[in-house]
Amino acid sequence: MSMTHLQLRKLFSEYWESKDHKLIPAIPLIPKDDPTTLFTGSGMQQLVPNLLGDIHPLGKRLYNIQRCIRAQDIEEVGDNRHDTFFEMMGNWSLGDYFKREQLNWFWAFLTRELKLPEEKLYVSVFGGTKEIPADEESVEIWKKIGIPEKRIVRYNTKTNWWSRAGAPDNMPDGEPGGRTSEVFFEFIDRPHDPMFGKICHPNCDCGRFLEIGNSVFMEYKKHQSGLVELPAKNVDFGGGLERITMALENQNDLFLTNIFSKIVRTIEKVTGKKYSGYQKSIRIISDHLKTSVFLIRETVTPSNKEQGYVLRRLLRKTAFNLHKIGVNLNQTPSLEEIVESVIDTYGNIYFDKERDLKQIVPVIKDEIDKFGRALSRGIKEIEKITEKDLENKAFYLYQSYGLPLELLEEIFVNLKKKVNKEKFREEFNRHRKLSRDSSSGKFKGGLADVKEQTIKYHTATHLLHQALFDVLGDGIRQEGSNITSDRLRFDFSAPKKPEKADLEKAERIINQKIKEDLAVKFKIIPKQEAFKIGARAFFKERYPDLVKVYLIGSANSPQDAYSKEFCGGPHVKNTGVIGSMEIYKFEKIGSNLYRIYAREKLPRPNGRGFN
Ligand code: SER
Repeated sequence: MSMTHLQLRKLFSEYWESKDHKLIPAIPLIPKDDPTTLFTGSGMQQLVPNLLGDIHPLGKRLYNIQRCIRAQDIEEVGDNRHDTFFEMMGNWSLGDYFKREQLNWFWAFLTRELKLPEEKLYVSVFGGTKEIPADEESVEIWKKIGIPEKRIVRYNTKTNWWSRAGAPDNMPDGEPGGRTSEVFFEFIDRPHDPMFGKICHPNCDCGRFLEIGNSVFMEYKKHQSGLVELPAKNVDFGGGLERITMALENQNDLFLTNIFSKIVRTIEKVTGKKYSGYQKSIRIISDHLKTSVFLIRETVTPSNKEQGYVLRRLLRKTAFNLHKIGVNLNQTPSLEEIVESVIDTYGNIYFDKERDLKQIVPVIKDEIDKFGRALSRGIKEIEKITEKDLENKAFYLYQSYGLPLELLEEIFVNLKKKVNKEKFREEFNRHRKLSRDSSSGKFKGGLADVKEQTIKYHTATHLLHQALFDVLGDGIRQEGSNITSDRLRFDFSAPKKPEKADLEKAERIINQKIKEDLAVKFKIIPKQEAFKIGARAFFKERYPDLVKVYLIGSANSPQDAYSKEFCGGPHVKNTGVIGSMEIYKFEKIGSNLYRIYAREKLPRPNGRGFN
């Protein structure tokens, strides 16, 4: 059965609604108050506290469709199925149903609702290790459903254990995880590629099999060096919208499904190159531009740090691949049309077309233009380099012009210069590993170290948000926020540029509220009531009918509280525990868009700088 991704979303939602699940709104791609990961990488991210035992306001049965980015997959993009931006369809049981219902229901969704042919579906279960027993219960359930033994495979922790940090040994203290059972779709027309091993099997990487859904049975938590049981047995299911679409279309190439076809066609039109002749590059361009569009939409700008660095890499790789297929970067192609095709693909789900085009296109164009210029300069410099200096200089070229390895090698060959590829690659990989460690969804030195400080900054962010309203009036709107253990960052739009005096005033208000040692409490109330009392919502999130609202000061008569905000928490109990705050940096990041950095005041030698 073929259907568009829009129809698939609808079916998925109706299915879980019919099983009494409540929709939890997706969170932004840049986790708002979570400094432990750069990007939202799975649907369960917002539910970590609930999987660990906190009550969720919407109950025990939940579902959603969550936009995600896995930056660690950037280098994989180019094959038939990898992408950096994807959407995960998820359902959860917080201590309610468990394996039997989950496996039966997901199977029924695939075979009855989506009508995928049963004989093309394989399942995997956890086969057991010294520490963790095999999941025989799931085997029995699958057999009862009618799956023959030959389509049930057993794997170990590498593939059938899931936590945000991977295998149990890598999990930080307090992190939840569990054994999994996955479902795979077989593209029967695609022959096995022996490059990936002698025998093909569901988890083989040759592309004949595709994982389309992962049921995680979250019943453990890391504690010291071992695993302990969670207070409840939870289900955390995630299935890639893109991959299920591939199965539905029986289309082994993700870039030819209805999720990418419009984007790919537009790239063909704009560049004048055919997908069939330039598959790898066009796949990279379409994925990376799409991911960039989503990131810029959430106010990320290219930089050398964190999310901004990932965006810069994506755009440079886009530029490089445009160059590679013969596009002259000094006459920038019509990127606007490609961006438009991304926005059109997602209908009205994520974008406000006119506004977003205006915000997104200039950022992309600027970065690609810059790269085009760096490329011309880099080529001139390479011409001057003597062969014996090549390897050392090559690394310098990569660092200073951002020219990727592949491109440098190509230029060397064109110039008939020989380079010791191995030596260069060694240096290159060392550098890349360093940047990957700081940019992939890694866990910083244990969640616990950073937690206390980030909770303070989270409450301080609410104070800042309200203080900006006090000073600048109702015309402002929160556009994003981000917290690390060193500082908070707050993005907002305002009709006119705030003056230095405005920021000083906001800072004074925040510190006044800290001094007053106001109580911070939350209430779970209907959305309408929350709007009525004037609670501030973050417009990029859609909220469920029942919401959690955090109140700072006067919780007994919420309308009088100083700050009221839709928020999942956590927060400090009293504002007095936050040290005195300073706004130490202010910048304009787009038209009518501003960014504030603030932190607790310490004696700092360099003072602060407004620009
Ligand atoms: N958290 C699991 C995953 O990301 C299932 O939702 O695969």
